[in-house]
Amino acid sequence: MDHTLDALVDGYAWLPALRRRQGSDIVETRVLGRRAVALSGPGAAEFFVDDRDIVREGVVPAPVRATLFGFDSVHGLDGPAHRHRKRLFLAVLPPERVDALVAAAGTAWDRRVAAWTADRTVSLHEEAAAALTDAVCDWAGVPVGDHTADDLVAMIDGFATLGPRHWRARRARRRQEARLAGLVAEVRVGVHQAAAGTALAAVAHHREPDGSLLDQHTAAVELLNVLRPTVATAWLVMFAGHALHRWPRLRDRLAEDPGYATAFAHEVRRFYPFAPYVGGRAARELHWHGQRIRPGTLVLLDIFGQNHDPVLWPAPYEFRPERFAARGPGDFDLVAQGAGDPETGHRCPGEPAVVRLLAMFARRLATLEYAVPGNDLDISLRRIPARVADGMTIRPVPARVAAAGVTGSDATA
Ligand code: HEM
Repeated sequence: MDHTLDALVDGYAWLPALRRRQGSDIVETRVLGRRAVALSGPGAAEFFVDDRDIVREGVVPAPVRATLFGFDSVHGLDGPAHRHRKRLFLAVLPPERVDALVAAAGTAWDRRVAAWTADRTVSLHEEAAAALTDAVCDWAGVPVGDHTADDLVAMIDGFATLGPRHWRARRARRRQEARLAGLVAEVRVGVHQAAAGTALAAVAHHREPDGSLLDQHTAAVELLNVLRPTVATAWLVMFAGHALHRWPRLRDRLAEDPGYATAFAHEVRRFYPFAPYVGGRAARELHWHGQRIRPGTLVLLDIFGQNHDPVLWPAPYEFRPERFAARGPGDFDLVAQGAGDPETGHRCPGEPAVVRLLAMFARRLATLEYAVPGNDLDISLRRIPARVADGMTIRPVPARVAAAGVTGSDATA
């Protein structure tokens, strides 16, 4: 039976529900007319990331490529071509450049907070997206255009729906790809200067294994694969605001203890729904826990399910940053941004940046005083990507707005 409709309607609950019904850690299904299996658990994650067994070419459906990832991106490459392209991303995100990105985001956020007034509510989602857009564009060497922030948000918001959000996402991607392809062309002929070490310079000058430059379209796609997911961190900032509203006792410790802010960031990534699953294709006949997986079968790793597995995470629906206080996540347990080694597999190259950004934002939120009108704080698991219904709307409190920002170093947060 084809479960495409269930996937669209049930959202994050689709695979966990299927697993419960079939009473197994590996479940069989069909999506988009293709035979599929869904797996969950650290062993499954390790199995999933072995690129001799599971490949990515042709896996991501065209509507997702037309919105979220772009065509011909790193996500759909395999083997040596993948590793070569992946080095481009890892090269633009060394620790010192992550420091610079976090600092830029903190400055952009403080600037926005300073402009807040007590007579107007603000959405943490929108404010964080605007600050992150300014920061990542500046950091990447890309000028911010009129539509940049809205377009980057739209591409994320519209990838998993067939309605108007989807068409907005397609338009946003077309507009930004055209703009960035033009920018890359200008860098290559020397009309626009891109500072060394920026993502713009790296993408414009990146060479394929055969020595050729990336074509302009692919260069724009990969530049967007740095900008867009950085802005996706705004979803996690919104969820951090939600967590601080529900569990206000966490505020003091967060403000005081940078190590705790890192644990808090991991727990936000585990607890709240964002990326639902990742997919690959069986390169040959495979066997998992005694079950045969035929060549060509779509293999899904259930991210949301694994991040709420009670065996891995006792009381998974309780928000407990303490889980990560003594030790950070391992390579295969917290799979919010994929699993395994980012250099050899498809694990997200932006994960260290996201953890640092989120810890920095969480500490700033913890020291900011605001009221939460609570217009609608529902988070529906049927909507992908999930969001707090009102965007986590807050009303600033005047005396504390001026004092925004955290003293001390964010470098360890
Ligand atoms: C909210 C923040 C983010 C989330 C939830 C997220 C999540 C993910 C997930 C689930 C994957 C797929 C892993 C797989 O296929 O096995 C991924 C891949 C990727 N992410 Fe992120 N990510 C985020 C932020 C970032 C940032 C900040 C960057 C870059 C600056 C980035 C760049 C990428 C790229 C280029 C890939 C493709 C890697 C590959 O195919 O080898 N992401 N991300």
